Amino acid sequence: MQSIKGKKALVTGGSRGLGKAIALALANEGVDVAITGRNKNTLEETVNEIEKLGVKATYSVFNVADKGEVKKEIETLINSFGAFDILINNAGIAAFGSFIEMDEDEWEEIVKTNLFGPYYVSKAVLPSMVDLGSGDIINVSSTAGLKGNAVTSAYSASKAGLIGMSESLMFELRKKNIRVSTLTPSTIASEMSKDVLKITDGDPDKVLQPEDFAELIVDMLKLNKRALLASASLWSTNP
Ligand SMILES: NC(=O)c1ccc[n+]([C@@H]2O[C@H](COP(=O)([O-])OP(=O)(O)OC[C@H]3O[C@@H](n4cnc5c(N)ncnc54)[C@H](OP(=O)(O)O)[C@@H]3O)[C@@H](O)[C@H]2O)c1
Repeated sequence: MQSIKGKKALVTGGSRGLGKAIALALANEGVDVAITGRNKNTLEETVNEIEKLGVKATYSVFNVADKGEVKKEIETLINSFGAFDILINNAGIAAFGSFIEMDEDEWEEIVKTNLFGPYYVSKAVLPSMVDLGSGDIINVSSTAGLKGNAVTSAYSASKAGLIGMSESLMFELRKKNIRVSTLTPSTIASEMSKDVLKITDGDPDKVLQPEDFAELIVDMLKLNKRALLASASLWSTNP
């Protein structure tokens, strides 16, 4: 396995939940980390935690669904922090409900955040990654993107679209030594999943934790550069 010490990573939605666990796990490996989100206070708190691990850390406040903001803020980040070796497209939102009843604006916001977000961010990061001649992009989809459900039309559409974009990008970019991976985790304990976990009667000790997901990502990044894990689903062993 290769060391990832000294690399630079951008983790969208890195202020809490899965993104925060990923940012901390990367920092533990000696990776400098930039995190993004919409809430400045949460980002600041997480950056303080990351810096305690002895690496450089910074944050940028923007909405991944806003094309103009993404372009401007990522350009500023790259100019101040340097080109990114690693991009984790993690920021996302979820809302569940009947297709007929869900508000059109809400449906659109989910797709814009979960599908257009990673598209805008990847477009902004890629030119400098291509210049580096290597890199890793990990797109966080969901098992909901593999299979629809009665109440998940917007979320499943956004995450299925992300799988399609991510797989296509993998085939395009492997020729440039850039590895693109698509992850489809099942339910992991976080702010996003707290309502789902309330109505399932599983044992809370058996629920996947953000750290389990972060461990998988670190191991993927440490794979020899000739090896690419194109996709993986992370499930609870015995929920
Ligand atoms: N938890 C699960 O069970 C589960 C399972 C499968 C896949 N996933 C996926 O994993 C990813 C992380 O989920 P999570 O459970 O960690 O969710 P979370 O706890 O709600 O955290 C979401 C993160 O994304 C940021 N974010 C949300 N919307 C954004 C926007 N429009 N622009 C910029 N940042 C935004 C949030 O910060 P701000 O609110 O400050 O913007 C926060 O940092 C998501 O893509 C989710 O779909 C989660």
